[in-house]
Amino acid sequence: MCGIIAYVGDQPAQPIILSGLRALEYRGYDSAGFVVRENGQWRRWRASGPVAALAAKMNGASIRSGCGLGHTRWATHGAPTEVNAHPHAGGQDEVMLVHNGIVENFSRLKKKLAMVGTVFVSETDTEVLAHLIALCYAGDLVSAVAEAMSRTEGPLGIAVMHRARPDEIVVARRGSPMLLGLTDRGRLAASDAAAFAGWTDQVIYLADNEIARLTADSHQVFDARSARVDKVVTTISPAETAAELNGFPHFMRKEIYEQAETAASAWRGRLDPVTGAVKLGGLLDCQERLKNCSELIIAACGTSYYAGLYGQYLLSESAGLDARAEIASEFRYCQRSYPAAAALLAISQSGETADTLAAVRLAQAQGLLSLGLVNVAGSTLARETAAGVYNHAGPEIGVASTKIFLSQLAIFNLLALFWRQLHGRDRAEDLAWAQALVGLPDKIRQVLALDNRIAAIAERFCHYPNWLFLGRHFNYPVALEGALKLKEVSYIHAEGYAAGEMKHGPIALVSPEVPTVAIAPADRLRAKMIGNIMEVKSRRGPVIAIITAGDEEIKELADEAIEIPPTLDWLYPLLAVIPGQLLAYHAACLLGRNVDRPRNLAKSVTVE
Ligand code: AGP
Repeated sequence: MCGIIAYVGDQPAQPIILSGLRALEYRGYDSAGFVVRENGQWRRWRASGPVAALAAKMNGASIRSGCGLGHTRWATHGAPTEVNAHPHAGGQDEVMLVHNGIVENFSRLKKKLAMVGTVFVSETDTEVLAHLIALCYAGDLVSAVAEAMSRTEGPLGIAVMHRARPDEIVVARRGSPMLLGLTDRGRLAASDAAAFAGWTDQVIYLADNEIARLTADSHQVFDARSARVDKVVTTISPAETAAELNGFPHFMRKEIYEQAETAASAWRGRLDPVTGAVKLGGLLDCQERLKNCSELIIAACGTSYYAGLYGQYLLSESAGLDARAEIASEFRYCQRSYPAAAALLAISQSGETADTLAAVRLAQAQGLLSLGLVNVAGSTLARETAAGVYNHAGPEIGVASTKIFLSQLAIFNLLALFWRQLHGRDRAEDLAWAQALVGLPDKIRQVLALDNRIAAIAERFCHYPNWLFLGRHFNYPVALEGALKLKEVSYIHAEGYAAGEMKHGPIALVSPEVPTVAIAPADRLRAKMIGNIMEVKSRRGPVIAIITAGDEEIKELADEAIEIPPTLDWLYPLLAVIPGQLLAYHAACLLGRNVDRPRNLAKSVTVE
């Protein structure tokens, strides 16, 4: 949450920082700010609202300085007002600071600072840190940052300038991501490589508790004991920073449409369609431990957790693995000990979700093998887990996750096959499974071709304020995900339920004003879903059914039917999720919502 970009070099900082802020805006978009030091003065602009509001405010300003900081905020402490926007000043304006994270002991520190005469102008925790750095400064900004960090608690990624050192930026991380970008014409730092698009592909990932000093032609990295650290420079692929709409009106729509390719990329080079064999290079080194794994805890948040739930069903049923999905924010506080042969698989698109990382660290502290299923290469999760699998799905910019959910389901299929093969299970079954996977991208395209029909359904129902999503077994996570998507982008209230739970409460909600999306493909639970649909219909609730093409029986019962192609029972979720994504997308557009940047949300939840 919150995006940081900093630049020091021989080019004007303004265009570099603004383009970085636009790329980082998915991390938070309730206010933005920019500062440079020019002619012995700070020049700072801040605006409530998106980066466009900041850019409009700066319009016409002639800024030549090649050293500055930018920030896009997702508010934690204090309303999204201009005065709470970063950069924050510290001391007597000696320091300017941008921050991503939370100063957990800020109220204690604030009291102490107030006692020595510090006057606070904002409601933020960040301002406390700015004052603390100013107070700790004795000629060396790196030491001041190290000292201030040692007095604060909580995750942070920061970039700081001091007026005595106008051509130097110091950045640091503890928990929140921070990486450096190297160019011939200066140094960059940002919370995400996306901010470097168009400027550099040469990056250095800072590790926790590292601090870096940047000047136009140098960078030095120090560890927590102030010792110099030699860092590896990584070349990132253009795909890791690409964020183009390519003619689509929104990233969410573009990413929904990318899903046939997303599925194919999940198994490209990993699944042999002729033999059904699966090779997962990222798990090679721990195959023995995986073979003897007694239980698999799958930890994740939000959409990634729903994918984990699917993984729980799939791995336990088809690979005989004792798998259990856990909400990471709950798991991290669960005081249970696990057998040494257990493993934890953390799932995260961003690889920066604070609760998911905490779950990993908890598992590691107990000596468990930690695995990651992550999309962002080089993210904290990718670096902290012992082994893992990448989604290879390209950047997901829309705040509402779409293609990554599908990719996570696809990869669970590979993991299930992998585990089966590790234990010498029946290859003939695997072959049929592998072939069904290979045929899936075409079927995904067929579902995407229903877009106009789904848009018409969204138009019919988008003014209904409450919806239900029902599914069973493999499609239960799809029901949860459908409801989450609708909530996130259209702000329509929706509940996802295991259809069998209907009679235990949610049926009280059914009425002609509450549409129910019933995920009822022709799998082994179809008849049970028909029962649920009948129950809704007999209470005059409108039903939008997601069915297998040609299922005339359900078509007659439902008010609207969305027909998806036939596939294996456990592959239906990879098709059935798409109508829910499109319903949410169209409803949001029809209601005039900000589809890619829904209110109150951020793409990467780096605070607890
Ligand atoms: C999904 O649309 C979300 N915005 C959100 O639930 C997300 O899946 C969750 O925050 C986890 O993120 P991660 O996959 O990056 O860890």
